[in-house]
Amino acid sequence: MKKVKLGVLVSGRGSNLQAIIDNIEEGRLSAEIALVISDQPDAFSLERARKHNIPAVHVSAKGYKGRREEYDALLVKELQKHDVELVCLAGFMRIITPVLLKAFPQRILNIHPALLPSFPGLHVQMAALKHGVKFSGCTVHFVDENMDTGPIIIQAVVPVLDNDTEDSLSARILEQEHKIYSRAIQLYAEGKLRIEGRRVFTSGGGDQNGVLTNP
Ligand code: GRF
Repeated sequence: MKKVKLGVLVSGRGSNLQAIIDNIEEGRLSAEIALVISDQPDAFSLERARKHNIPAVHVSAKGYKGRREEYDALLVKELQKHDVELVCLAGFMRIITPVLLKAFPQRILNIHPALLPSFPGLHVQMAALKHGVKFSGCTVHFVDENMDTGPIIIQAVVPVLDNDTEDSLSARILEQEHKIYSRAIQLYAEGKLRIEGRRVFTSGGGDQNGVLTNP
């Protein structure tokens, strides 16, 4: 099967990047990471990529304040240079612009540590705890022009326990993130994702892309 060429955009520790790398190396994902780009010079993600001989670059956002389109044009250039087909945001702490969206129409994915549309934005595990929800989870979605609003591909649900802290809940969610991001990428690689309006269907039908997990 053809391997889909990924460009992974990161800003930090890169545990989702690592899970994608591991799933590829263990043959669970027909993909190849063509490039990792970080907007932070010292992101641990860059080290992770280089350890696996994956091209990894820092594209500095310095001097691009208020010029996000120009910064995104730099990203597009790098991604195209490496022949990237699918862009995966994995803890990339920047809002992307139409420049990137137009270069990769319906070809940008994001992972979010909550059950969208609940708790978009930042610090969402804490927000979920404070709100008192009994379940939270994570979402892989296509990226559109707004933050955390694009069509949902897969969600995994985890319980919120009485003694949870932000850290314990985040860890439980993260474990699922590491599974469903690769699963969504694999569905893309197999050409199985079909978007109709806000809904994403898995062709062949009947596939269940909501994942319920136990504590
Ligand atoms: C994850 O929780 C992801 O859902 C969110 O940012 C975090 C990135 O973590 N978008 P990591 O860098 O992949 O470890």
